Amino acid sequence: MNSATQSGLRSITTVGTGRKTYDGAGIPLTRIISSPDIGIIDPFLLLDEFGSADPGDYRGGFPDHPHRGFETVTYMLAGHMRHKDNHGHEGVIGPGGVQWMRAGRGLIHSEMPEQDSGWLRGFQLWVNLPAARKMDAPDYQEFTGAEIPEERRGGDCTVKVIAGTTGGGLPGAVSGVPTAPLYFDVHLNAGGRFEETLDPQASACLYVYQGSAGVTGADGAATKLQRGQLGKLGPGKAIQVTAGAEATRFLLLAARPLNEPVAWHGPFVMNTQDELRQAISDFQSGRF
Ligand code: CO
Repeated sequence: MNSATQSGLRSITTVGTGRKTYDGAGIPLTRIISSPDIGIIDPFLLLDEFGSADPGDYRGGFPDHPHRGFETVTYMLAGHMRHKDNHGHEGVIGPGGVQWMRAGRGLIHSEMPEQDSGWLRGFQLWVNLPAARKMDAPDYQEFTGAEIPEERRGGDCTVKVIAGTTGGGLPGAVSGVPTAPLYFDVHLNAGGRFEETLDPQASACLYVYQGSAGVTGADGAATKLQRGQLGKLGPGKAIQVTAGAEATRFLLLAARPLNEPVAWHGPFVMNTQDELRQAISDFQSGRF
């Protein structure tokens, strides 16, 4: 990389570790985005990592609950999750599979493990919708692991392209999302390197879920992220990540910030308190 490119590198501005919590029927998980030391990264409202080989941890799943005003993105690393909503939509998300669900004006759904042994592991990301799209009809984009495009870069870097387009021109599986998100799952061998251009207007972060990584900033110095750490990226137009001494995997997330007020109550994310009251009233009156 020449110095002109390096000066456009996004530096890590904040490093945070998620917080252990419980959701659904007492499922242990780590809340990463929306934890006290990270907060939200507009338009990303929340990122949860779940993972256990003990069915006692996950058997209860996430029984019926509503959503309105944003999108939920489930990405499975291992195991199977059955999804079912009150509009007749149902399916199973398997290893490597993705469900990008636009809750829009509202639905009630359950997310339940489709297994009683073995690993259940993955992520759920919440992506906000702009005010003008919060009351859109619910919509789904669903892909199996085999349907997620994969870009191999030399022998040491593989990129699973869930959403967004790589610098090499490979488009992701998911399209048509208002915030133009990029969602990559990057796998590096020990010492492997990943470079990518990013929309200068996008909020961006990466979350290391295996191994460790050094993120080279605009000054040429690297900030190290350990497994379980999220790094928020500052302004710039590119990112450079180098794996540590073992195989490393991380999620790279970027999207256009909405810069709109966020009124949030549980599974409802709107712009005003009035809209929240309406959401609660609509849910309680069976209008989801
Ligand atoms: Co849900």
